[in-house]
Amino acid sequence: MRRDPLPSAWESLPAQQQPEWDAHPLHAAVLGRLRNAAPLVTHAEAATLGQGLAEVALGRARVVQAGDCAESFYESGAAHTAAKVAAIDALADRMAALAGQSVLRIGRIAGQYAKPRSAPVEVVDGVKLPVFRGHMVNQETVSELARRPDPRRMVWAYHASAEILSDLRARRRAAADGGRLGPWSSHEALVLDYEAGLVRHDPVSGRSLLGSTHFPWIGERTRQLDHAHVALLAAVGNPVGCKIGPSTDPDTLLGLCAALDPDRVPGRLTLIFRMGRDMVAGALPPLVRAVVSAGHPVVWMSDPMHGNTRRAAGGVKTRYLADLVAESREFRRVVEGAGRHVGGLHLEVAAEHVTECVGRHGDESALTERYRTLCDPRLTVEQASELIDATF
Ligand code: PEP
Ligand code: CO
Repeated sequence: MRRDPLPSAWESLPAQQQPEWDAHPLHAAVLGRLRNAAPLVTHAEAATLGQGLAEVALGRARVVQAGDCAESFYESGAAHTAAKVAAIDALADRMAALAGQSVLRIGRIAGQYAKPRSAPVEVVDGVKLPVFRGHMVNQETVSELARRPDPRRMVWAYHASAEILSDLRARRRAAADGGRLGPWSSHEALVLDYEAGLVRHDPVSGRSLLGSTHFPWIGERTRQLDHAHVALLAAVGNPVGCKIGPSTDPDTLLGLCAALDPDRVPGRLTLIFRMGRDMVAGALPPLVRAVVSAGHPVVWMSDPMHGNTRRAAGGVKTRYLADLVAESREFRRVVEGAGRHVGGLHLEVAAEHVTECVGRHGDESALTERYRTLCDPRLTVEQASELIDATF
């Protein structure tokens, strides 16, 4: 197999949200290391997941995609992976029981180490610091040194991902006997130095693979049609996702579908709608109509989390379960009203017991008890189960 990615379209295109490595002396060495590394996933694995997602697109299965907003490098060991997979299992089993269909399990796991951010700096205790961008880029600790982007973190991300992926591979073999599907890996394909460094081309089949994960997605902040992230995922054979927010117009969405699913292959493209509870009823129907009339056999997925983030009175970010329920139920009403199958849910869920989101009977004052997230507030498994119960 050819080890170097072919010179490709995305290299000359603009890209949002890229780390400023500030001419770090090891940047070039890291890029070389990634280009020569073994891919972390295989063509065959990506193809198997693509077939599973095709079943979802065709209405014969559903999918749960869940995990941390931002994974920690310090949670790549077996005990953490076991707890995270157990959380996904619990949610998938719940959805399977309610929906009466098999449920594909996908984690936000084994590579969710980079975060897009709305501002480049923040003020903490009166000190202005670069924001935390995920462990692939910097460290959340409140210090100038910790927040400095370090390209060596891309190599650490590779190794942390590899450790988790070998665990997931063993679990998939064991799960197949019990009839469960997955667990597969996914993350937002954000840092192009890392993602492009792990593209592998197979000259025999002529296909390219994004070797960093089974199921990459493009975030709401980097889905510009003529930019690098879309071109990169258009060029690889993995099943891919794209977040769709409330400001998306139907033509832009059709452009994304044409770029990412030109051959109209069921399971190739998952649209992950994250509209916000107040926007979904107005913004979703024209988007659904456009995709349906263009004939793209997409997976229709709801992310009820990212359009519903708020600041609690104490200043921390939180989400109210009632808002999430309202959005996911309206999503189901609109998609089914258009005669399409609701593929599933995309959720930020913690494996441990946290107090980051406000439950239907909870209040904000409890949020400080166990607020542990590196980025966005996550549901507990119990809260996520309630959301599934209320949706299906
Ligand atoms: C995320 O999934 O953590 C995220 C940043 O989502 P979005 O791109 O939808 O804002
Ligand atoms: Co998030």
